[in-house]
Amino acid sequence: MSDFLSQYKRTHTCGELRASNVGQRVTLCGWVQNYRDHGGAIFIDLRDRYGITQLKFDPTVDEAAHQQADRLRSEWVVGVCGTVVSRGENVNPKMATGEIEVLGELLEIFNPSLTPPFEIGDAPSANDNLRLEFRYLDLRRRPLQENLILRSRMNKLTRDYFDSQGFLEIETPILMKTTPEGARDYLVPSRVNPGQFYALPQSPQTLKQILMIAGYDRYFQIARCFRDEDLRADRQPEFTQIDLEMSFVNQNDVFEVLEGLMKAIVEPVTGQPVVTPFPRLTYREAIERYGSDKPDTRFGMELGSLTDILAESQLKVFADVVGSGGVIKAMNVKKGAEFSRSQLDKLTDFVKIYGAKGLAWIKINAEGWQAPIVKFFSDAEKAAIGERLGLEVGDLVLIVADQYRIAHESMGQLRAHLGKTLELADPNRYDLLWVVDFPLFDEADGKLNAMHHPFCNPNPADFELLFSDPGKVRAQGYDMVMNGNELGSGSIRCHRQDIQRRIFELLGIGEEEAEQKFGFFLRALQHGTPPHAGFAVGMDRLVMLLAGATSLRDVIAFPKTQKATDLMMQTPSRPDATQLTELKIRVTQ
Ligand code: AMO
Ligand code: AMP
Repeated sequence: MSDFLSQYKRTHTCGELRASNVGQRVTLCGWVQNYRDHGGAIFIDLRDRYGITQLKFDPTVDEAAHQQADRLRSEWVVGVCGTVVSRGENVNPKMATGEIEVLGELLEIFNPSLTPPFEIGDAPSANDNLRLEFRYLDLRRRPLQENLILRSRMNKLTRDYFDSQGFLEIETPILMKTTPEGARDYLVPSRVNPGQFYALPQSPQTLKQILMIAGYDRYFQIARCFRDEDLRADRQPEFTQIDLEMSFVNQNDVFEVLEGLMKAIVEPVTGQPVVTPFPRLTYREAIERYGSDKPDTRFGMELGSLTDILAESQLKVFADVVGSGGVIKAMNVKKGAEFSRSQLDKLTDFVKIYGAKGLAWIKINAEGWQAPIVKFFSDAEKAAIGERLGLEVGDLVLIVADQYRIAHESMGQLRAHLGKTLELADPNRYDLLWVVDFPLFDEADGKLNAMHHPFCNPNPADFELLFSDPGKVRAQGYDMVMNGNELGSGSIRCHRQDIQRRIFELLGIGEEEAEQKFGFFLRALQHGTPPHAGFAVGMDRLVMLLAGATSLRDVIAFPKTQKATDLMMQTPSRPDATQLTELKIRVTQ
């Protein structure tokens, strides 16, 4: 502790002083944002996380302080004592502290700084990698500070809410065993048990269920999760969930608690009302109307089916698709008739990414329908299409004919893409909804995978199908969706050990593997497991949406890159040889 801080306690932050403080002697601490020498007086913008205050060093007021101020450079960290004075006619209405300045009388340089590699202003002024390498400098920027402040506030709102609802916050370990959530595990070698590894939790799933067996009927945790998977803007290898589990409840009870949670967080943060209960869509409805299990419902442009209308169309590609069991999905883009040929070609390339063979289009012009394919349609077909899609002059119809999955996915992606490029969604609206009745399994290449994770209960009405047609079994699983993002997911859990074993079996997890990975869990299930259900909200995604950020990196203090590295710490990195020897690990690369 320097002498300065023993003698002068910080009295105010750099965001605090107003005209009402004029005349007071104050002590501020912060970083030099800006330095201006006005031939005589030196002006410094002093910044901390609360704001910016202008300091003035006038040689006629204090010669020593002025000389000291003359040494200052960007990002030096200082303490200053001085008197608050009015800026008179030089008031800066854009600054919260713009009415005043502090006339510096004593300046302590706590530490100089190397010249920062980029400017620290509101807008990012360097490429992502440089900003991540110097994360501590990027974190000094106001927008990132606001995001972390928001995040801290949301943590508090979360804890207060769960406390008010009688939930217990219980921490589960980080050194754990595999929890299957569809990603690879991060492994940690054990020194005292050579050759053996812990897995970091992909989620606290098995342990929160065991807490239900242990009788802690309302649990929550702001839980860190680790998943080794391919990263995107909405995924990080290490992220945070608001995780909860409840016993003796049905789906509605879980929804009520979560709707209350969202109200408790979103309303104070956005100032917008959250209407409860949230609308519910079944998985099937979501796919058929929006081509997505996480639809953005802030705008319409729903998908319509033309399968029945065009089943016998003269247009052979369409009739053939229907003949072979496929579907024809269409979308009405309002004012889309203005799209140019090259714009339409780009949209065609876009749907091809998702496996569609092409994208047919029709422009509804004042002179009539315009498209290469229109000549194949009869008047009756045109009338039926017009009615189904609510067509008006100026509209553009986009059509994909394909197998069920490809037609829905490509059109769903196209809808989301056009929603963004045409700015159809109101950025100030927060549309929350439930998607329910997910299938239990996702069938790919003749293999069943868990749609969520292996612990979802099958819909009891479908228990029989587990043995006859498992691909058709519905799960008691549900997702929460906000503005086209999957915010969270959960389910009623399988509390019967025999059903749980059957699910493992269907997933191709043999008895031996089940015992080795989940033996502890299957055993626990046999010790009086109450019916239970739960959920996890992606905290990072929620902060991102409420902060209006476009990347998770902007709401996580120390995020990882696309390649799961930390450029500041330079990790992952090689451990030293003695560590490896102790762990009895030989690196082969
Ligand atoms: P799930 O795997 O769907 O469910 O995860 C819940 C929510 O966590 C967020 N999320 C992520 N956020 C950032 N980066 C990631 N890599 C990432 N992966 C997931 C998403 C997601 O909706 N145990 C179950 C929950 C339960 O059944 O109770 C689970 O983990 O917003
Ligand atoms: P083609 O006869 O292959 O030249 O296609 C005529 C138009 O129909 C083009 O605009 C194609 O992009 C479109 N098209 C072809 N196959 C499909 C399909 N399966 N679904 C929708 N449009 C298609």
